[in-house]
Amino acid sequence: MFRKKKRPYLLIASRAPGIVDAVPEEYPVREAVSTRGAAQALNEVRPILAVVDTNELTETADLPREALERTLAALQEDGLLVVPPADFLTEPERWLGEALLRTGLREGVRLMPPRVVLVTNYVGGVGKTTLSLAMAKRFAEQTRLGAAVVEAGIGGSVLATRLGGERPSLYEIVTGQAKASSWNGADVYPMSGREAQALADDPRLPAVLDAVQRAHPLTVYDAFPSNPLWRIVLGRATDILLVTDPRDEAVAQTESMFRDLQPYIEERGLRLHLAANKVRTWGEKVAVSDAAVRLAYSERLAQEYAASLADPLLNLLYPGWEQMRGKKNGKGRKNR
Ligand SMILES: Nc1ncnc2c1ncn2[C@@H]1O[C@H](COP(=O)(O)OP(=O)(O)OP(=O)(O)O)[C@@H](O)[C@H]1O
Ligand SMILES: [Mg+2]
Repeated sequence: MFRKKKRPYLLIASRAPGIVDAVPEEYPVREAVSTRGAAQALNEVRPILAVVDTNELTETADLPREALERTLAALQEDGLLVVPPADFLTEPERWLGEALLRTGLREGVRLMPPRVVLVTNYVGGVGKTTLSLAMAKRFAEQTRLGAAVVEAGIGGSVLATRLGGERPSLYEIVTGQAKASSWNGADVYPMSGREAQALADDPRLPAVLDAVQRAHPLTVYDAFPSNPLWRIVLGRATDILLVTDPRDEAVAQTESMFRDLQPYIEERGLRLHLAANKVRTWGEKVAVSDAAVRLAYSERLAQEYAASLADPLLNLLYPGWEQMRGKKNGKGRKNR
């Protein structure tokens, strides 16, 4: 069977053994061994992903290494993903997924790279739990790849109460008493503060969290900083989503949280995203103008865990997410 749609190219400019074998067969590959070859390939096939170590390439007289590096840097600004060969070899599917997402291609959905998101803030009632659930629901429904929400708050479990029904807690799951329950296609792991305390020293916990993260390309930790597992979940995050609302005191507390997290984020190379929720007026919008995403106040949307709340946030986690959605609705589709 032949395909109607041509798949995007990958450029492999590296001699690392096994590197071409690491590319899934259905993706066409251009290879290059010299700086000129690499530049020509970039021009001719417009790859979405370049696996390249410029130091490995033979330098041709007409194209110095630095010139190729500048070209790569410029193309990166336009969405090309450049990955060192060693990184690519450890997780080829993941990098391909990242590249497909950036270009907003539907195929990206099959190869969603894993994200572990810590949704947090000291400030209460800003919508952390609501937005965690909205993202998981939307991700699960759109990709069918599975999403998880793990609660790590204080006091009793809000998640179990809010969602209703039989909701085994993470504690019951770790101790082998039950399996996770599902909500709108997402697996949920409620947990009270006391259960978190009991799990903090449980040697079985890391393996269970590893398994949760492996099984769900999107894992959300709805976490409060004074939860006993805070350090553990912070250590697992790839992304931190700080949620605030436009009230002065909320913004001030968010700033202080940001300052507390900043050294850690830099050290670990995490991505930090700031989202302002419950924005009602133009004045409030101005008050949170630094936020990457501003979500309007709407009780209806909050109660529905609506896609319109989730999509802008998922787009921060998976650049290209909203573009993909647009294509699905028939907008901007070229190949049909
Ligand atoms: N965009 C929104 N517009 C209107 N109401 C919202 C919005 N987002 C959340 N809410 C509402 O705000 C209330 C608090 O939300 P939520 O419980 O998600 O906040 P939280 O930050 O998790 O709170 P806590 O700090 O207690 O864990 C809920 O009633 C929720 O429905
Ligand atoms: Mg909450």
